[in-house]
Amino acid sequence: TAAASAAEQPRGVVTVAHRGASAYVPENTLAAIDAARDLGITWVENDVQRAKDGTLVILHDPTLARTTDVEQKFPDRAPWNVWDFTWEEISTLDAGSWKGPQWAGQKVPSMEQYMNRVEENDQRLVLEIKRPEYHPNLAEDTVEELDRLGWLDRTHVEKKLVVQSFGADSVKTVHALRPGVKTAFLGTPAIADLPEYAAFADQINSTHTTVSPEYYAAVHALTGPHGRRLEAYTWTVDDPARAVRLAGWGADGIITNKPDVVERALVAAGY
Ligand code: G3P
Ligand code: CA
Repeated sequence: TAAASAAEQPRGVVTVAHRGASAYVPENTLAAIDAARDLGITWVENDVQRAKDGTLVILHDPTLARTTDVEQKFPDRAPWNVWDFTWEEISTLDAGSWKGPQWAGQKVPSMEQYMNRVEENDQRLVLEIKRPEYHPNLAEDTVEELDRLGWLDRTHVEKKLVVQSFGADSVKTVHALRPGVKTAFLGTPAIADLPEYAAFADQINSTHTTVSPEYYAAVHALTGPHGRRLEAYTWTVDDPARAVRLAGWGADGIITNKPDVVERALVAAGY
C-alpha cells in the first residue's frame, strides 16, 4: 500500500503472500505465485532448500511427505528428506493434490523455475534460505544461483528482492558476499542485541506473537547496513484485524497466507 502515515515521510505497509497465496493454492508452487498475482499482490515469500544433486528447490518442510505424493511414489525412502532426493526424482512428484484435486499436476519448482515465474509475473520476492543447518553452504549456493539467474543486477537488488533466514550466519554470508542485497533476520532478538543484527540485516522479521509497539520502536530507532531505518515485518498473520493492529504498532510488512484479505484491511485502515 502507498498511503502516507502520520510519520514525516510517506510509508506503506507491504503485504507479502506467504509461500504464495497459500491459504487457497498449494504452497510454494508456481500456481501459488500466480494466484497472488491474480489477487493483485506483488510481494511473495518462499523457502529455498537443496536437493541431493545440488539443485535448489522450493519447499518448506524438511521432508517431501506433507506436500507431495512421495510416500506413494518412493515407499522405501522414509523419512523422505528433500536432501535425499535428486531433482530428477523430485520433478516426478505431484505437489498439488494434497490441497485438492483441482491442483493435481502442480510440481515442486526448482529455484530457477520459480524465479523465472516471479520475473514473468513482475512480482517481488522475500526469499528464505530454509534450514541452513541441514544444507551446508546454502547461502553461498543461493547467492550463486541468484547471480546466474540475473537477480543480482541493480534493479532486482534495489527493488525486487529481500533474502531472509532464521540462520544469522546465512544472513551474514549473503550480506558479506553481496553487500547490496537487502537482507532480513527471522526472529525476535532481544532489544539489547538488535544493534548487532542491524550490522547485516535491513529487516527484523518476527512472529507476530513476539512483538509490541515498544519492540518496533526499538527496531525503528536503528539504522540498517544500507543507511536506512531498520524495518520490521511480521508473520504469519491471516486475521485482518490483527494485521491492522500490527501495522498500527509499526510493522512495515505483513506476511500472510491470505494476502487479499490482509491487503484489503490495510488499505481500508489507511495503510
Ligand atoms: O516469512 C516468514 C515465515 O515464512 C517463517 O516461517 O516456517 O513459514 O518458513 P516458516
Ligand atoms: Ca518461510
